[in-house]
Amino acid sequence: MSNRSRNVVDLTRQSPPIDLSQPYDPDWVSGKTILITGGASGFGEGFFRKWAAHGANVIIGDINDKQGIALVEEVRASTGNKNHHYIHCDVTIWQSQVDFFHQAIKLSPTGGIDSVVANAGINGYGGQPFWDPLGLDADTPPPPNMKCLEVNLIGVTYTAHLALFYLKRNPNSAVADYKVQPAANRPDRHLLLIGSIASLITIPGLTQYNASKHAVLGLFKSLRSTAFMGGLRVNILLPYFVNTPLFQAGGRALLAGNAIATPEDVVDAGTRFMADTRIVGRALMIGPKIKARADNEWEVVPQEDNDGVEMAVREVLVDDFEEVEAFCARLIKLLNFVEATRGWSAVVSDIFAVITYRILVMFGLKR
Ligand SMILES: NC(=O)c1ccc[n+]([C@@H]2O[C@H](COP(=O)([O-])OP(=O)(O)OC[C@H]3O[C@@H](n4cnc5c(N)ncnc54)[C@H](O)[C@@H]3O)[C@@H](O)[C@H]2O)c1
Repeated sequence: MSNRSRNVVDLTRQSPPIDLSQPYDPDWVSGKTILITGGASGFGEGFFRKWAAHGANVIIGDINDKQGIALVEEVRASTGNKNHHYIHCDVTIWQSQVDFFHQAIKLSPTGGIDSVVANAGINGYGGQPFWDPLGLDADTPPPPNMKCLEVNLIGVTYTAHLALFYLKRNPNSAVADYKVQPAANRPDRHLLLIGSIASLITIPGLTQYNASKHAVLGLFKSLRSTAFMGGLRVNILLPYFVNTPLFQAGGRALLAGNAIATPEDVVDAGTRFMADTRIVGRALMIGPKIKARADNEWEVVPQEDNDGVEMAVREVLVDDFEEVEAFCARLIKLLNFVEATRGWSAVVSDIFAVITYRILVMFGLKR
């Protein structure tokens, strides 16, 4: 590992790889105010129930008002905590998300937001497969159904942007520092993104879902490099197929007979991220439970092997900053070299060109 790539890790304040054999205490979520988009069903509902049971104040935003309101009532009754709320929020509409964040801050018992989960997602194409366009005999092709990208990419990008804005504005929040021991009521600035196995692999037929989840991974990789500037920690969950209403809509028949992941394992991995404030810039993939060697989670062993350990959660993209981003660093070095050889006169002439271009546009002499 070169010093330069090590510097990327240090600069971005990324924490060391996660030791999944080490337990964490779910009570560390206690006292946090957590926002979850798409919190009325599936993983969002699972996170809500678990974190509320461990003392967090959870505010969910969803378009399914009936289910969201009923869920909040139930969780308030079971926890005795009135600080759980449902707010209508359509993640595809910017103002709807702004209102969600504004109202949540007013309702938060601490007057701020500690953690945000960009969870809302869909997997549908409105009966119009992207890869098999309909109406080819028409003069002009009908536009594709873009809902999946609107929810999974535009919606998630809005949520991430608002999280960057509001997390550091929380008067009680603390700058992410992986060296500080987690504890209940510890202030936090955490953005948790929900990607998918479709962020990592190609799923034929789920074109827009695949594209949206690859994009969410890109969002994560880029954001984790800059999040330290706002004192934030950003992490991502990458679940394999899990039996939720979303999965039922598309993949059940496709994967009939195959092992799938469990919602409990996804919620557990999400809880580790939420509770353990030492985890910064990390990605966990949640798959079916597979027996593997205790010292190498990628080496599958036979079911009857006594030394094997059943595991569903594995860390991925572990050494990206050392390996993948080191390539980027080399590229930047090349570009810096070009800049250096062009010298200061080139910088001045480029800035001059930008200014004259704007003046020419202003006077209508250039478009
Ligand atoms: N279930 C799986 O197999 C699986 C696997 C990997 C990743 N994921 C991801 O996990 C996340 C949660 O999915 P889930 O499986 O729990 O599905 P789900 O359908 O149970 O929950 C999704 C929630 O998002 C809400 N939602 C949909 N459109 C919305 C909008 N415009 N604004 C606000 N809320 C909206 C829905 O009403 C629902 O409550 C999604 O991002 C999904 O892509 C799911």
